[in-house]
Formats: sequence, C-alpha cells, structure tokens
Amino acid sequence: MAANCSINLSSVFNIPTRSYSHRLSTRHAHPVLVFSVKTEEKLPAVKSPKEKSAANGAGSQSPDFKSTPTATLPSENPINADSSAISTPSRPLPLAAVLCNAVDDLINNFIDNPLRPSVDPRIVLAGNFAPAQETAPVACPKVEGTLPACVDGIYIRNGPNPRYVPRGGHHLFDGDGMLHAVRIKDGRATFCSRFVRTHKFVQEEMAGGPVVPNVFSGFYSLGAAMARGALLTARVALGLFNPSNGAGLANTSLLYFNRKLMALGESDLPYVMKVTQAGDIDTVGRYDFDGKLFMGMTAHPKIDPETKELFAFRYGPIPPFLNYFRVSPAGEKEPDVGILSMLQPSFIHDFAISKQYAIFPDTQIVVNPMDMIVGGGSPIGCDTAKVPRLGVIQRYATDESAMKWFEVPGFNFFHSLNAWDEGDEIVLIAANSYPVEHVLERTHLVHSTVEKVRKI
Ligand SMILES: [Fe+2]
Repeated sequence: MAANCSINLSSVFNIPTRSYSHRLSTRHAHPVLVFSVKTEEKLPAVKSPKEKSAANGAGSQSPDFKSTPTATLPSENPINADSSAISTPSRPLPLAAVLCNAVDDLINNFIDNPLRPSVDPRIVLAGNFAPAQETAPVACPKVEGTLPACVDGIYIRNGPNPRYVPRGGHHLFDGDGMLHAVRIKDGRATFCSRFVRTHKFVQEEMAGGPVVPNVFSGFYSLGAAMARGALLTARVALGLFNPSNGAGLANTSLLYFNRKLMALGESDLPYVMKVTQAGDIDTVGRYDFDGKLFMGMTAHPKIDPETKELFAFRYGPIPPFLNYFRVSPAGEKEPDVGILSMLQPSFIHDFAISKQYAIFPDTQIVVNPMDMIVGGGSPIGCDTAKVPRLGVIQRYATDESAMKWFEVPGFNFFHSLNAWDEGDEIVLIAANSYPVEHVLERTHLVHSTVEKVRKI
C-alpha cells in the first residue's frame, strides 16, 4: 500500500459504460445462467397467483392475498396446493396461534395498509415472480444430442421464493431460500427444486403459515414495527416460535467450501445442503464453523483459488458494526477482526479481496431507527448527506490498526466483480448503483455501471 492514502478520484471512471437495469430479472439481484430444461409432462406446471385465481373462478386480475383467512391459509395457498413434496399439518391450530394470526391480519389491514407498490405482493409476486413450488427429482427428456457419460456434476442456484402467501407486505428479498438444480450423471439429467429447511421454514411449517415478520417489508413505520415486534414477542412467549436458532432465509447464494455445499443469507448462519445420488436436495443443518461463527455471514464470501482460504465478514446493528474474518482451507475459522472505525451500521452486502487486501464498501444505505421513529419510514434507508467510503485492510490483519478509509463520492457498490494489486496500487472493479435512494424501494428505477476504482 502506498504511503499516500488519498484516493485519486479522477481515476474513478466507467469502463465500457454498458448501463443495465438493476431490476430483478430472476428472484435475486444476481444474474444467473439458466439452463433451458424441457421436462417431462408429469412435472407439474408452476402457476402464478393470477392463473390460480382465474382457475378458481375468482375473476380477479390479482390474487387477494390480504383477505386470506389465516386458519385456512395452507389449503388456499397457491404454493402448497399443487405441491406433493411438502406436507402441511392437518391438525387444527391452537387457539393462541389463531389469535396471533388474527392480530397479524389486523396489523396488515389497519396499521400497515395500504401497501406500497414495492412491497405489495399482488405486484411483486405477479407473473414471472409468482411463487414456485417444490419439484421432486424428475428426469429431463433428451431433446437433442447426448450428454457425455463422463460428465458428473450439478448446476445449482439459490433464490428467494415465499413458502407461504404473505399476509402483509412482501419485498422480493423476503422469500424463503429455494434451490433449483440440474444433476448430470451417466448421460442423464435430473431436475429438482427444494426449499432450504431453515429454522424459520420448519417452524412456519409447524405453524401452518407465516410467523416471522418480513425484514424488508415489515418495519416501514413505527406503528407497524412496534405492532409486529410485540406480536413476535407474544408468539415467542406463547411457545409459537423459538428464535434461538435464528430466523434467516438462506435465500441469497450458494457456497462450496471444504467439501460442504452451503446456502447463504447474510442475516443468519450458513445452512449445509446435500445433493443425493438421485439428484434430490436435502438440508443437513445450520453451520457455525465449530461454534466460532456468530449471528451471520455475508452471502458473498470469497475463496482464494490458490490458497483455498475463505474470506468473509458479518455485519449488524451492534458494534463493531463490521467483523472481518477468514477460514483455513480445512474449515478452521480465525477470530473476528472487529472494525470499530465504522461508526454507523450500513448495508454491506459484498466486498472484494486482492492478494494483499480486503476492500469494504461503507455505503449510503444505513440503519437509522430515527428515520422510522420520526419520519415514519424504514429503519433501513438512504442517507444522502453521507459520503460513501471504501475501507482497505490487509487481508491477514489481526486487528484494524492499519485499516484505511477513502471517501468515494457517488460510489455505492453492492456487488464487486474483482480486485487486484498493481505494485503500490489497488484496483477494484464493482457495480455502482444509482440513484442510491431507490436501491431498496424502487428497484426498477435503479441502474448500475461497472466502474473501476484505483487507489494510488
Ligand atoms: Fe447479492
């Protein structure tokens, strides 16, 4: 690292400035390579809520998510109705659960209503974004040509997909993690889709409906936040939900490290998954790196292809707001490096590593409960008065004493592409998203440009 720690802003420029819409083309912000798989007729078709509604003779253009009676939700759930893979408890709900669900409906209809378009399930879960059901392993018919017998592997992706029709608001990031996989072996291909059996998922299965408030859509105003917080507290007190094993969604990405396949979501620990010989996908369980990982881990860790080490971080609302760590190729996690020079929690979705450094964004998306209390907005919002920064720390640092921060006005990156060292310079390639104030609420208005930042 050069002794001069200023950043040359004139070197911040767009490289081939191919702007592209950041609107979700799949269920998550990450574009993924999707196989075109033509399946056998016995594969049940995925129906959108609109198609379901039409088939049921409702005659409505949009499904009426909010009026679904809670106690009968499972049987009316368009996700559940066609699913042969998920069982729903047939026993009647306990009275306490029925009462809590009724209070939930009151909150959704009278405190947090009307819904904003960005979290209205009639809009965000319509058409191509409609919930998809599980699909047990099914053989893919041969359309043309042959698969080499020597190919033995799997293409697998992760994305949010709500298990239950939400009672209230739903942001696209709020769905339960679902894996879709194409297993290729012995010249044949098998397709399968399975939910990640997270602790939240299992508990809501037992409850027969949503229990955990949606993080991105459930706390937009002080009234909604207080009401939902009180309701969740009541559910815990009544034994209807046990928060001791997290409430994450594992819906963001997949990691293959140390011979483990993990489904990741940054608000919780990783979930280890297993692909069976038949191409099915099982959830093994929550993984804490032998008791050394707490709370959560980024969904975008980095593996050094040469050293096979894993580099990652976790962030949250309690100081230190950022904790950086690495894991040996054998899976032994090193202690967290707490970054106390971050004075305010901000949304750190991704980072980058070079051979010598780890580079973190300190973006204008911040956690500020006062926005919710005073302004009636979300506790996660945009601070346009803040100047975004990049933090650089040696990647084998054991403390943050040598960490440097650089102001980068107008540069908010939520996904990196690469970083490398050039002598005393560090080069970062990342997607800059703007206008940043629309990143969470109006994603259809957000654009990203791939930009290069060079620190001299
Ligand atoms: Fe991401």
